Formats: sequence, C-alpha cells, structure tokens
Amino acid sequence: MPEAEDIFETGDVFRDRQLVRVGHVPELDRVVGRDREIEAVGSALAPAIHGGPPETTIVYGKTGTGKSLVARCVIREGRRQAAENGHTLASAYVDCSDYGTETQASREMARGLQSTLGESAADTSIPRKGIAAADYRDITWELLAAHDVDAFVVVLDEIDKLESDDLLRSLSRARESGKSDTMIGVICISNKIEYRDRLDERVDSSLQDNELVFDPYDATQLRSILDHRRDAFAEGVLEEGVISKTAALAAREHGDARKAIDVLYEAGRLAEKEGGEIVTEAHVDASLKKAEINRFQRLVGGQTPHVKHILRALALLTAETEGTQFRTAEVYDAYENVVTQTESSPLSYDRVQRLLKEQAFLGITESEHTGGGHGEGSYRVHRLLRSPEVVVEALDRN
Ligand SMILES: Nc1ncnc2c1ncn2[C@@H]1O[C@H](COP(=O)(O)OP(=O)(O)O)[C@@H](O)[C@H]1O
Ligand SMILES: [Mg+2]
Repeated sequence: MPEAEDIFETGDVFRDRQLVRVGHVPELDRVVGRDREIEAVGSALAPAIHGGPPETTIVYGKTGTGKSLVARCVIREGRRQAAENGHTLASAYVDCSDYGTETQASREMARGLQSTLGESAADTSIPRKGIAAADYRDITWELLAAHDVDAFVVVLDEIDKLESDDLLRSLSRARESGKSDTMIGVICISNKIEYRDRLDERVDSSLQDNELVFDPYDATQLRSILDHRRDAFAEGVLEEGVISKTAALAAREHGDARKAIDVLYEAGRLAEKEGGEIVTEAHVDASLKKAEINRFQRLVGGQTPHVKHILRALALLTAETEGTQFRTAEVYDAYENVVTQTESSPLSYDRVQRLLKEQAFLGITESEHTGGGHGEGSYRVHRLLRSPEVVVEALDRN
C-alpha cells in the first residue's frame, strides 16, 4: 500500500499544467505570429465596433493553425471595444463538430447568445429538446430584439461538419426576411480547403465574403508559441533546446500548434512518470514516437488480422534487411512466415497483392510499378511509410 498522501503525488515537473492543455484560450496579446489574420478578422468585425454591420468571413486552414483561437480572441476584444463605444455586439460560438445537426447547432447558437448577453437574458428558457431548429432560431431573434443588440456575430467552426445549409442561409437572410433588425455577420471556419467551392455556393450571394487562409506555422512561430507556455513548467525544468527541438520537428512535419503543444506536454508527463526533474530532448523524441504509435494504432485498428500480418511482414523486412522497398513476392514470403506463427493459414498470393494495393491507397504503404532491368518484366514494389519500430509496436499493442 502506498502512503495515502503519495497516491495523488504529481511530482515537480509542472507548475501550471493548464497552459499546455487544449482548450486554454490565451489573451490576444499572447497570440503569436498571426498578425495578418487577426487584422483580417478584425476588419470584418470593425464596422460593428462603430455601430455598423459586421461582414461575413470565411476562414480556411489546416488543423492547429490558430483559426478557432483567432476567431475567439478577436471577437472577445471586439465586444469589449464595441461596448466602450456604446454599441452592443453579441456573439455565439458553435463548434459544428460537436453540434452537427441543424437543431443542435441552432440551439447552441441560442445558448451562446444567451450567455454573452449575461444576467438579463438568463430567464429565457431554451428547451433542451422537443423543438425544431427553426424554433431555436426564433428564440435567437427574440433574444436579439429583447436586448436591443446592434450587431451579432456567429462563429460556425468546423462548418464542414454541419449537415445542411439551413442555419447559414437563415442567418444571411434574417434581416431581409424581416426576422431580425440586428445586423448579423458569420465567421465560417473550415479545416478543409476543398470546402471553399461548396461554401461559396452555400453562402448567399448578397453577403460580401472575405476569404482568409491560415498557413501552417513555421519553426520560429512555433518556438514563440511554445515559449509563451513555458510557465506551464516549473523553473529550470525544461532543458535547453527542448522547445526549439519540439518546434523544429513540428514545423517540419505539420506546422500544427496543437500537436506541438501536445508533444511538449507529453514530454513533461514522461519526465514526471520517471520521477525525474528535468525534461530533456530525449523526452521529446519519446513523446513524438508515442504520438506516432498512437496515430498508427488508430489507423490500423480497424483492419483485418491479415492486413496486420502483411504490415508486420513489411515492417520486419524493412527492419531486418538493407532494403526499403520489396517486391510482392518477397512480402508474400515474409507474410507466410508471420502467419505460420499464428493459428491461421495464409491468404492466397493474389489476395495479398490486392490488400497491398489497398494499403497504398490508405497511405500506410507506398507501392509502384518498376520497369525492372534489361530483359526483366515490370513488377510492383512496396515500401512502408512509417518506421518499422513504430509499426511493430503499434501492431503488438493491437
Ligand atoms: N498563434 C498562436 N499563439 C498561441 N497559441 C496558439 C496559436 N495558434 C494556436 N495556438 C494554440 O494551439 C492550439 C490549436 O489552435 P486552434 O486555434 O484550435 O487551431 P485550429 O482551430 O486552426 O485547428 C490551441 O490550443 C491554441 O491555443
Ligand atoms: Mg479549430
């Protein structure tokens, strides 16, 4: 039995863990490297700060590029400044990946508006269920009217997850259809650039839309983002070079701030688990590897046992030989070896060949036709796109 007070012992690595957890929304002045984007979102909101109509904006960019953060921070600042000028700017933030149906999204919008209106709107009842999306929107218009709201900005985050266009359409037409006198603007956010064409059709042409693309962060930007979270760790715990290394690797792989922060957090947790007092570059490597194994495990988790045997075979070939790419026949032999060690019997050569093509399609392996040398026919070779250690470890865990 451990001593009672030791059960919840956390160690001395972290001082303020929250700073490296997702969901932490820093103040605008702690948002690094997004000046152009902050200005662009700001200028769409600017009219509302002075009593005019906010403009609708469409924001694209890969995950972890600060889209949600910038939208939230700029709106928070905009509301403050509008209030200073004597205008009511209300807002609602809807994460469509959590609220994907029209009803859920419309309810969330009404609730978001209610909470930004504060005390005076607290009595309005917003039923949990039993009413339609249009009813939630009516509640929204009523709230706007009852509180003399001058302008209303709705963020539809991850809008590609929203099942239909109704909410967006009714927001863009609320004024002309006489539902609301409030000036309404929408910030549509999508992680998918391909979504642009679809959204262009969806947004009413009467809306002026400003388009904005967030690029992945480079190493310098990631370094300052991580540097601003340094206080998450106790004084002197982060070894020199830990932040630059995390930033450099993250910039090379994806430029995603969320993932970079996660890697730093996980490195701290690994140090903590070891009972150590220093977070080293080796912890960063271990943290990255762990994340990679987790991702790979999710990717292959749903695959059949034979697909896993094939991947293991390719991983063993890659680990045990000099080569990086292997002919179908070589992979098949290795696969037969792997299968022999299990209870099952191997699939046919043709079937394995087909599965290998499928894996290439999933992006787990790469496969191509090679001309072969003089007099040889053409043949197909396969290459693993992850390190064999990662693959084997993920398969072992499965
Ligand atoms: N420029 C930045 N400065 C500080 N923190 C940032 C910055 N950009 C992103 N982050 C942090 O990274 C994480 C992901 O950002 P987020 O805005 O959610 O990305 P996206 O919405 O583009 O996927 C959040 O925890 C956020 O606080
Ligand atoms: Mg987001």
